[in-house]
Amino acid sequence: MTDPKIPILVVDDSPSTLEMIGRKLNSHGYSSFAARSVNEALELLEKFPVELVLTDYKMPKATGLDLIRHLKAHHPLIRVIMITGYPTLEGAVEAVKMGADEYLTKPFTDQELFSAIAKVEAMIVNQKLAHKPSPTESNPYGMIGSSAVMTKVYRAIHKSCSNNATVLIHGESGTGKELVARAIHYHSKRAKTSFVPVNCGAIPETLLEAELFGYTKGSFTGATETRAGYFITADGGTIFLDEISETSLSMQVKLLRVLQDKQVSMIGSKTPRTINVRVIASSNKDLNQLIRQGSFREDLFYRLNVLPITIPPLRDRKEDIPQLVYHFLDKYSRETSRPSPKISPEVMTAFQSYHWQGNVRELENLIYRLVVMNDEPELSVSELPDYMKFTLHHAKNLTRSLAEVEFEYITDVLNSVRGNKSQAARILGIDRKTLHQKLKLTLPQEIE
Ligand SMILES: Nc1ncnc2c1ncn2[C@@H]1O[C@H](COP(=O)(O)OP(=O)(O)OP(=O)(O)O)[C@@H](O)[C@H]1O
Ligand SMILES: [Mg+2]
Repeated sequence: MTDPKIPILVVDDSPSTLEMIGRKLNSHGYSSFAARSVNEALELLEKFPVELVLTDYKMPKATGLDLIRHLKAHHPLIRVIMITGYPTLEGAVEAVKMGADEYLTKPFTDQELFSAIAKVEAMIVNQKLAHKPSPTESNPYGMIGSSAVMTKVYRAIHKSCSNNATVLIHGESGTGKELVARAIHYHSKRAKTSFVPVNCGAIPETLLEAELFGYTKGSFTGATETRAGYFITADGGTIFLDEISETSLSMQVKLLRVLQDKQVSMIGSKTPRTINVRVIASSNKDLNQLIRQGSFREDLFYRLNVLPITIPPLRDRKEDIPQLVYHFLDKYSRETSRPSPKISPEVMTAFQSYHWQGNVRELENLIYRLVVMNDEPELSVSELPDYMKFTLHHAKNLTRSLAEVEFEYITDVLNSVRGNKSQAARILGIDRKTLHQKLKLTLPQEIE
C-alpha cells in the first residue's frame, strides 16, 4: 500500500463509476474514499481528513450542489471538483458559481481527470503558502516546534543553506517536507531566484518528461509550441522534486543523467543546455526499501542523498503538539475573525495521544475546522471528531459484550489509519486475513 497523497473523497451514485475512479486514483498513489450518496459523504467527511472531494452532480437524493453548500459551510478548506454529465452546461456554470474549484464533463479522459486534480492541488499549495508561519527570532524558518528532533531539523536546514549540495528530505505525509524545502531555498544565496516545485507523483508518467525537460514544437503529437521544462525554469534557482519515489525507473535514469551532466535536452532537440539548478528532493517512502524491492535506483539515491534531512512524524514529537495547537488556533481565529477557544486539558491529552496519520497538516485542518465550527468559550472532548475520542478512555461503558468492544475497536483503528487494512492489521497485531474475517463477521455486507 502506498502512502497517501492528498486524500480524495469520490461521491457518485454509480458503484461502477466509483470503482473506476477509485482504481485510477489509487494507481496514481492517492488514497481515496468512496461514497454512494451525499449522506454517506457527510459521514466520511467527519471521519477522515479529506482534502479534495470529487463529486457527481446528479444523484437521486441530495445533489452535488447540496454537497458543495455543506462543504462551504462546514469544511471551507476542502476543495471540490464537480463531475457533470452531458448536456448539463448549466450545471457546470452553476457548480463553479456555487464554489466548485474545477469541473469535469462526462465522459472524461485520465488526462483531464489528473489535470483537474493537479490544478486543485496547486490551489491547495497556494493556500498553504498563504498560511505559512512567519519567522521569529528563536526560529528563523518560521516552523513551529522546539523538540530535540525538530531542533536537529533546523540545524540541517541551516547547514544546507550555505551550499548548493543536493538535499533529500524524508518524512511522512504532512510533516512539513515542502516547508523545509522552501526554507532552504529562501535562506540560501538563491533566495531571489525561482523555487520550482514539481509534484512527481501527481503528474502522469507520460507527461512528466515533457514537463521536466520541455519540448520543441512538433516533437510529438500535441506539441503545438515549444515549451521550456521545469529544469530550465529553475535555472539559477532551486527545483523541488517532490515525491521522487513515484517516478518510474526509466525517468530515474533521465534524472540521474541531468544531475550528473548538469545539462538538459528538450524533447525534440539535439542540443543539450547547461543549467545551474539546485536540487531538493523529497519522499514519504523509505527509499532504501524501494531500492531493495528494485523500484528505486541506488545510483540516483546516492546522488540525491548528499544532505539527508529526516522529519519525524508528529506522534514522535508529542511535546510540539501544544505549541502547534496554539499557533494554529491563533492563526485561524485571526483569519476568520472568530474567537480562539480555550483548550481543556482533556482535549490536549486527546491531541497528544492521537496517532496523527496526516501529521501537522491533519492537526492544522482539524484546528481550522474547530475554530470555524465551535461556539463555546472552551473546546470540550464532545466537539472532537469521533475517531479521536477512542484515544481517550474516559467513557467506560461496562455493559458491552466482548464482540461489541472488538468491533468498535477494529473500526476505530481502521478509521484512524483511513481505512488502510494492512496498517490496521499491524496495529491490531493480527494478519490481514484475520482482519478480513473479523470484518466479514461484524460489518454489514455492503461495506466489505
Ligand atoms: N513545523 C511546522 N510548523 C508549522 N506548520 C507546519 C509545520 N510542519 C508542517 N506545517 C504545515 O503543515 C502543512 C503540511 O506541510 P507540508 O506541505 O510542507 O508537508 P509535506 O511533508 O510536504 O506533506 P505531503 O507529503 O503530504 O506533501 C502545511 O500547511 C504546513 O504549513
Ligand atoms: Mg509535500
